[in-house]
Amino acid sequence: MKYTIAVIPGDGIGPEVTEQAKKALNAVGDVYDHTFIYKEAMMGACAIDATGNPLPNETLAVCRKSDAILFGAIGHPKYDNDPTAKVRPEQGLLKIRKELGLFCNVRPVKAYEQLIENSPLKREIIEGTDISIYRELTGGIYFGIKELSDDGQIAFDGCSYSVEEIERIAHLAFKEAQTRRKKLTLVDKANVLETSRLWRKTVTALAIQYPDVALDFLFVDNAAMQMILNPKQFDVILTENLFGDIISDEASVIGGSIGLLASASVGKENAMFEPIHGSFPQATGKDIANPLASILSAAMLLHHLGLHKEAAAVERAVEKSLSLEITTEDLNKNKPFSTSKVGDFIADYIENQDDSVLNFQNIHMGQSTII
Ligand code: IPM
Ligand code: MG
Repeated sequence: MKYTIAVIPGDGIGPEVTEQAKKALNAVGDVYDHTFIYKEAMMGACAIDATGNPLPNETLAVCRKSDAILFGAIGHPKYDNDPTAKVRPEQGLLKIRKELGLFCNVRPVKAYEQLIENSPLKREIIEGTDISIYRELTGGIYFGIKELSDDGQIAFDGCSYSVEEIERIAHLAFKEAQTRRKKLTLVDKANVLETSRLWRKTVTALAIQYPDVALDFLFVDNAAMQMILNPKQFDVILTENLFGDIISDEASVIGGSIGLLASASVGKENAMFEPIHGSFPQATGKDIANPLASILSAAMLLHHLGLHKEAAAVERAVEKSLSLEITTEDLNKNKPFSTSKVGDFIADYIENQDDSVLNFQNIHMGQSTII
C-alpha cells in the first residue's frame, strides 16, 4: 500500500529523532511492501523564523491531505525566556490540534523490564506497570478565554467543557479499556471544579454502555500521588487537557526516561504522532538525543493505519535495542550510542528480524549490525 505521511520535524532535536523514525518506516516499507511518501512541512520556532507564523497555512494543507502526521518537537529558549513574546512556537502546536480536531491524545506508559533500574522509583513499585493515558486535547483551560487587565495586575484563564467534548473521548477510553484490563479511572478535581463535576456526571452516565469496564474516580492531587505510590493500579486513565499534561510527564518517570514516551493525537479526520519529550535545545545537532520515543510514535502511526504486524516489528526492534543496550546516553552512561546509530540499528533489525544475524562485535564498534 501507499501512504502519504506529513512530516513536521520542528525545532531542537525534532529533526534528528524524526529522521530515525523515518528510517524505521522505510525499513517497514521494504519488508512489508508499503510505500511511505513523506511531505515535509514547518511548525514551531523554525516556522516563525522563516515565515513569522508558527503554523503556516501550507503546513495545515499538507497535514489535511495526509494519511497520518509524524511530528518531532517544538520550542526554543529564546521564546521560553520571554513572557512578553506575542508569537510563540507552542501556538503552532495548539493550533494544529484545534484546527485538525485532534481531541484524543493517547500516551502509553510502560515499565520496560530492561529499564527498570533507570527509574528513580523502586523495582517492586513499577515492575509490570502498563498504563494508557487518554488526555482530552482540544478543550479546557488551554483553549479558554485569556485576559490580562489593562494595568497588568490581574490575569484570567477560563476553563470550559461541553458534554459532547467529554463524551467523544470517553467513548474511546472505554473502548480501549475493553481491549485491556477493563478498568477506567477518571482523573478530575470534582470536589472543586464545575467542569470536573460535568466530567464525572457525563462519564458515569456513559458507563452503562460499557458494563464490562470497571469505572473509578480519583482527584488529580491524589492521582499524582498514586502514580508514584502504586502505578500498577492503573489501566486506562481518562482526564482533561491540563491534568493530562501534568500526569503524563509524571508518569514518564516510571518508564525510566521521557525519551521513550510516544503519543498519538487523534481526531475524526486526521491523526498526529509525536514523542512527548520537548525540543531539548541543549542537545540540538549533537546526535545524542534518544530517538526511541519518536520511533515508537511511528509504531503508533502504523497501528493507526491498521498495520499491526508492521507496528509490532518496530516495537520488537525497540525492545531489542533496549536489551542489547544499543541506546543513547540518557539510558546508557557507559557506552552510549548516537541518535543515528540507534536509528540504524532499529532499521537493520526490522529488515532482518532474526537474532542469529546480529553481529555483536560490529554493533559495539558502531558498525553495521547485520553480518
Ligand atoms: C505536551 C506539551 C504541550 C502541552 C506544550 C508544548 C504546549 O507539554 O504536548 O504535553 O502542554 O500540551
Ligand atoms: Mg506536556
